[in-house]
Amino acid sequence: MSLTLAEVSAEAAECTKCELARGRTQVVFGMGDPSADLMFVGEGPGAEEDRQGLPFVGRSGKLLDRLMAEEIGLSRDQCYIANVVKCRPPDNRDPKPEEVAACRPWLERQIQLIAPTVVVTLGNFSSKLLLDTKTGITKLRGQNYPLNSPVSADTVVIPTYHPAAILRGGGLQEAQMRSDLVRVRMAISR
Ligand code: URA
Ligand code: SF4
Repeated sequence: MSLTLAEVSAEAAECTKCELARGRTQVVFGMGDPSADLMFVGEGPGAEEDRQGLPFVGRSGKLLDRLMAEEIGLSRDQCYIANVVKCRPPDNRDPKPEEVAACRPWLERQIQLIAPTVVVTLGNFSSKLLLDTKTGITKLRGQNYPLNSPVSADTVVIPTYHPAAILRGGGLQEAQMRSDLVRVRMAISR
């Protein structure tokens, strides 16, 4: 018998495969519907996420919730939300390549068990990882891609900006992100 997502989450809660284990309050594995059609993948937990043990519960998360509702018509409970690294990098620094590599099997198991129709990668880290490319998000976004992984062969990847980039930046990026999410809505309603 293969493990359920809840069982994999319980296993991940004890993970010490990289140095991020030392600075965390708790592992932020992911949340939402384990059989969702739509999965979002961010970068890594911030301070609020580390405190609550849940992904995207700070300012970026509030914006993500709003855009998800307005453009796709879904709430976070109807999707699944996860990150590339499951433990908070100290001082919100970027995750290191070896940390991303160490944590990758957890994300692959999530994608394999959920088998979503669409994975939305939020920003550079998740987009580059799941599309196996060095190309940046500004160039990648605007189209749909096959998932570059054997774990869920029919899954489509739709890269878009990280909500933190929208909070920092501007109207153009927000409009582009909204248009990406409209493509998400079309891809999951086919
Ligand atoms: N930013 C992320 O990439 N992930 C979170 O969970 C929160 C903020
Ligand atoms: Fe394990 Fe990932 Fe946390 Fe590193 S970041 S300790 S690999 S769960």
